[in-house]
Amino acid sequence: MSNFKAYSKYYDLLYKDKNYKAESDYVHALINKYSIGSKLLLELGCGSGNHAQHLSKIGYHITGIERSEEMLNEAVQKNIQNFTPVLADISEYKLQQKFDVAISLFHVVSYLNSNKDLINCFKSVNESLVTDGIFIFDVWFAPSVYWLKPENRTKELEDEYIKIYRQAESKVFAEKNIVDVHFTTRVIDKANNSEITITEHHPMRCFSVPEIDLLALQTGFKLLHAEEFMSGNTPSENTWGVCFILKKIN
Ligand SMILES: C[S@@+](CC[C@H](N)C(=O)[O-])C[C@H]1O[C@@H](n2cnc3c(N)ncnc32)[C@H](O)[C@@H]1O
Repeated sequence: MSNFKAYSKYYDLLYKDKNYKAESDYVHALINKYSIGSKLLLELGCGSGNHAQHLSKIGYHITGIERSEEMLNEAVQKNIQNFTPVLADISEYKLQQKFDVAISLFHVVSYLNSNKDLINCFKSVNESLVTDGIFIFDVWFAPSVYWLKPENRTKELEDEYIKIYRQAESKVFAEKNIVDVHFTTRVIDKANNSEITITEHHPMRCFSVPEIDLLALQTGFKLLHAEEFMSGNTPSENTWGVCFILKKIN
């Protein structure tokens, strides 16, 4: 799967305005609210390690699973304390260690398009957790995808070496609850004005609360709570990203 292979190099620049520290503090507060004294974290789809970097400073020990070798290398290069990288697919992994909490942030679970991959992933998370362990993740919210509709967007960013122009075009496949996002990214080298174009295709699944509730019940979890990511508001048709908190019950 070539997703994230090419643009892993530019990922941190593309998301330099994303407040990873505030998001990590928000997750830390959820962990304190829904579990007791948890320090061993499993992170699914850890990407370039930006949440792990902050969570490690708070005192967590994190094992990060990521299927893109290039993204995982970016994480490893950050020399994050108490961080163990694992190159694997989150719908196919097996680990010996048990964790207090599993997290998956920035819509990683939305990358799992099929019911089979979702069930496999949730079952593996269940097996990786201690009794009463919790699973926190955010996904695209179906009511809002159909109400607000994904917009075509452009993003421009630069650092001292490169300029990036990224265009995102989306197509909704309502019968599958999937939005196909097609990224075209132009990267311009400021030193010599040379340019490369990278194209990537990200099919994102969106979910409703009852759908996650059903998935939880099928895989040994109970849905404790769902809220808008970061604000904590009740999900509505205007809520793009919803955060779910599940508890392992068997
Ligand atoms: C939008 S990025 C989020 C990365 C990181 N969580 C963050 O917040 O910056 C999605 C990440 O999920 C990873 N990913 C998607 N599907 C995956 C799968 N089936 N197994 C492992 N990693 C996956 C991608 O490679 C990518 O690094």
